[in-house]
Amino acid sequence: MHTFLHVSDLGPLDVALREAAEIKQERYKYEHLGRHRTALLIFFNNSLRTRLSTQKAARNLGLDVVVLDVNQGAWKLETERGVVMDGDKSEHLLEAIPVMASYCDLIGVRTFAGLVDREADYAENILTQFIRYSGRPVFSMESATAHPLQAFADLITIKEHSEKPRPKVVLTWAPHPRALPQAVPNSFAEWMRAADVDLVVTHPEGYELDPLFVGDARVEYDQMKAFEGADFVYAKNWSCPGVTNAADYGRILSTDREWTVSDRQMAVTDHAHFMHCLPVRRNMIVTDEVIESPRSLVIPEAANREISATVVLKRMLEAL
Ligand code: CP
Repeated sequence: MHTFLHVSDLGPLDVALREAAEIKQERYKYEHLGRHRTALLIFFNNSLRTRLSTQKAARNLGLDVVVLDVNQGAWKLETERGVVMDGDKSEHLLEAIPVMASYCDLIGVRTFAGLVDREADYAENILTQFIRYSGRPVFSMESATAHPLQAFADLITIKEHSEKPRPKVVLTWAPHPRALPQAVPNSFAEWMRAADVDLVVTHPEGYELDPLFVGDARVEYDQMKAFEGADFVYAKNWSCPGVTNAADYGRILSTDREWTVSDRQMAVTDHAHFMHCLPVRRNMIVTDEVIESPRSLVIPEAANREISATVVLKRMLEAL
């Protein structure tokens, strides 16, 4: 595996899930693979889970790890070609990428959507330049439009806790005070469609996700109806994806607190598990009662980020 952005990069999911289960039992089984190899993790944005779990995964595999926070201590990077660099950006990504690549064997990149220019975000301009100019295997640690390490960890968690062969999984929009990217819901929808689950997506009108990710998944605008009989509820805020109205891309269209996941909605589920990728704003996205309930999976879900990253890095090391 040379790049990791979409579920299709991983090959058959049943094989990947078996590998995840094996690694969870024996985390250091493949420690020899990373000997005398280095993973460079580059963060353009803040992170807690991705930063820690990916470093742990790399160390499980015997890799050396170098972490670069681009916005803390590095030269400020220009990412667009053709710009006259007379402002505050001292270095261009086109020099920085091959330089960084010369110090490592694998590169993980974390970027966020700008939420201003839909075309630029969905073209994955930064990640694509790393893939094109580094000459190294590149994996997404969340990019403008996708968060595959999170979605893989989510799927591992659902498989571990599912009491039915084909559970009903509801992806629900929930309110948030700031405009957030669509990366997490995009990847969650993409990975759930590839897995054997009954996926229902629920959100206010105008928040339709890009068909590239959501495909023909069932969309239900009535949140209570969507929750009926659910086995897993996955909450997340996202800003307007600009699918039905491109001019609204990145905007907040609703702050309706009726969509906050509470005991009211969970009562119509089939004793559903609650999931969220974290960080989460309590009593905006989900009430204290729901996130603290015994059916909440937010902690095991975050813990599985180490497992998803170990599988992905193992696959990349095997392909070197
Ligand atoms: N879920 C997730 O990616 O968390 P961080 O932003 O803290 O890495």
